[in-house]
Amino acid sequence: MSNLDTWKQVDQYFIDQLIPADPVMENVLKANEEAELPSIDVSATQGKMLQLFVKMKAAKNVLEIGTLGGYSTIWMAKALPENGHVTTLEFNPKHAEVATRNMEMTGVRDKVEVIVGPALDTLPTLEGREPFDFIFIDADKNNNPHYIKEVLKLSKHGTTILVDNVVRDGRLLDSESKDKSIMGIREMFDLLNNHPQLDSTAFQTVGSKGYDGFVLAVVT
Ligand code: SAH
Ligand code: DHB
Ligand code: MG
Repeated sequence: MSNLDTWKQVDQYFIDQLIPADPVMENVLKANEEAELPSIDVSATQGKMLQLFVKMKAAKNVLEIGTLGGYSTIWMAKALPENGHVTTLEFNPKHAEVATRNMEMTGVRDKVEVIVGPALDTLPTLEGREPFDFIFIDADKNNNPHYIKEVLKLSKHGTTILVDNVVRDGRLLDSESKDKSIMGIREMFDLLNNHPQLDSTAFQTVGSKGYDGFVLAVVT
């Protein structure tokens, strides 16, 4: 009963029940496919979860590391108040271009700033700005420990950090792994273990994107 097919069907049931059909968001995924971007965006149920996090936090300033075609960015941008902003960091200029077009198409362009470059170079340029309320980390997994350290400098009491893809079909458990992504994820957990400023948990997910999970951390 519990296989990818069932997970997909349950995801579809959730979508049918809870996520009104939105041709505009479908068009974002189509545009990504036409531009041959990898289909590694969050799922629709996860996009909605990001949106609800933004609402729960009543977030005005959102940071994202890893834009791709902007699917997750747009889910979050749609939940922002009038004066709210998402800053999203993307290494690949082509991804940033597709994302920018998608933001125009969905009417959120004026709420989003796309900054192109390796995030470890662009993150320090954000120091001195108003701290972020909600931060979504979803880029190169090998850099996750560095991203945690850098975003702490852009945070305040209560800032909520969500990290995607921390389980990777259970490969997380392989302490001998030579895969830089897995090593990065494990180093991130070592950093979070008893971190003086971060109160964290993690949860596993199954669904249309397979078996993976998120870390959720709050800055104390
Ligand atoms: N958040 C997106 C998916 C992001 S996929 C969504 O759910 O819709 C990961 C993205 O991170 C890719 O577009 C990749 O180009 C980008 N990336 C990889 N390494 C990066 C780096 N060092 N700095 C910034 N972005 C990076
Ligand atoms: C990969 C990256 C992601 O952000 C994701 O959600 C899934 C896969 C990857 O690089 O393989
Ligand atoms: Mg991801």
